[in-house]
Amino acid sequence: MREIDLDKIEINMGPPTEEPARQYYFMAKCREWIRAESKRLGRALTCATVTFGCQMNAKDSEKLSGILQKIGYVAADTEKADLVLYNTCTVRENANTRVYGRIGYLGRIKYRENPQMKIALCGCMMQEAHVVDKIKQSYPFVNLIFGTHNIYKLAELLYEQIQSGGMVVEIEKESGKIVEELPSERKFDFKAGVNIMYGCNNFCSYCIVPYVRGRERSRKPDDIIREVEDLADNGVTEVMLLGQNVNSYGKTLENPVNFAELLQMAEQVEGIRRIRFMTPHPKDLSDDLIRVMANSKKICHHLHLPVQSGSSRILKLMNRHYTKEDYLALVARVRAAIPDVALTTDIIVGFPGETEEDFMETMDLVSRARYHSAYTFLYSPREGTPAAVMEGRVEEQVAGERYNRLIGRIRDISQELAAESTGKIMEVLVEEINTKRENFVSGRLENNLLVHFPGDKKLLGQYVKVKLLECMGFYYLGELVGKNV
Ligand code: 5AD
Ligand code: SF4
Repeated sequence: MREIDLDKIEINMGPPTEEPARQYYFMAKCREWIRAESKRLGRALTCATVTFGCQMNAKDSEKLSGILQKIGYVAADTEKADLVLYNTCTVRENANTRVYGRIGYLGRIKYRENPQMKIALCGCMMQEAHVVDKIKQSYPFVNLIFGTHNIYKLAELLYEQIQSGGMVVEIEKESGKIVEELPSERKFDFKAGVNIMYGCNNFCSYCIVPYVRGRERSRKPDDIIREVEDLADNGVTEVMLLGQNVNSYGKTLENPVNFAELLQMAEQVEGIRRIRFMTPHPKDLSDDLIRVMANSKKICHHLHLPVQSGSSRILKLMNRHYTKEDYLALVARVRAAIPDVALTTDIIVGFPGETEEDFMETMDLVSRARYHSAYTFLYSPREGTPAAVMEGRVEEQVAGERYNRLIGRIRDISQELAAESTGKIMEVLVEEINTKRENFVSGRLENNLLVHFPGDKKLLGQYVKVKLLECMGFYYLGELVGKNV
């Protein structure tokens, strides 16, 4: 990506109206202020970005941190920093509760230790009017609130806050705008997420995402591929293409390109060895896509295919547009084309009206689809969604008991599947130093399963051959048998 030199930006005139020039102008303005503050305090100013929620939010946080570092903040390890930014999630109520607790805690640090501290909140939760009202009322020490549509404007909003000193709130209801060419931090040197689209048009009846992330918008394929090429030039070998519903990629473009075509374009990028994507919707996973995956040398044989429920009746109430039979037929097509595929899923337990019979359909589906792993959630009503006002609330105790039965079943199956590979030698991308076992590193198999094995930081970012010695359920313990595959 083009590196912009903030020193070369004219800041004595008014701001440009065009993006991204306008944001670079405000970055330069903020940096001027940060330099003056650092001089006054005799130390660097620090920042901390804390992310709640999904991969989309993690990716947004990299962009936000990229801007903060570009303007001169130094990343801190703790939340005792001069600027703390919470990038929030609201997909389930417990995500919100955690955020409120943490804001209270931050307020105490600010009050006791650093009255100059700036507290900023952004992300999905902030797109809900009742949340912003509550923060204005109960947490007046917060300095900056913005949503999901204007993260590219962080420098402009921060500058406004610096000027006014008060609480700045800017939430946009909808965004058609996709601003390219802004700085971004990268958490890993060798793997990166790449947004291919924003928003969602599906309106599953339980889900708040379409309300907080807006309508579906795709990035242009050229912009995406240029980003992948840039990443590859900078040493990245694994990319994860990100979107709420990647199968409908490209529909909003002037010259439509579908997701299978985009994957084929990404496959051409030299230096990239692994391509992952998240999240496809079962209702429109095309045979084209399955074929492209099956024939590809780079697209990982891992498919995260959220099913949500095994009951066709509940699926209809969820507005998912497929039945249990449709889903199982899709799984069969995927398995026939890609025999070594690892399937994972999301399941909601206790959706309004779910009976024991409905739940048993979910148990049956899990037994037949045989997932490598699954994320399971208790249904959480979200204000403003159709399901929140549906009848037949499932009692907490009943839902809890079903939940436990479900995770037991899922665990048994994933253990059986993982055990099948014990003894094999497989390729691992080494990702992290293991924090729990001394002198161990951790990496992932192509199918996304974790492997821990003895090694040191020299292996980070490398593809190595590892023998899978012991299956521990969701992960393996292994030993290194060859380097630099
Ligand atoms: N309650 C419980 N789980 C939910 N999810 C989304 N909305 C809700 C909700 N209201 C789950 C779905 C989705 C995952 C990201 O979160 O399973 O796939
Ligand atoms: Fe991600 Fe949805 Fe949570 Fe937003 S609300 S962070 S889109 S999971």
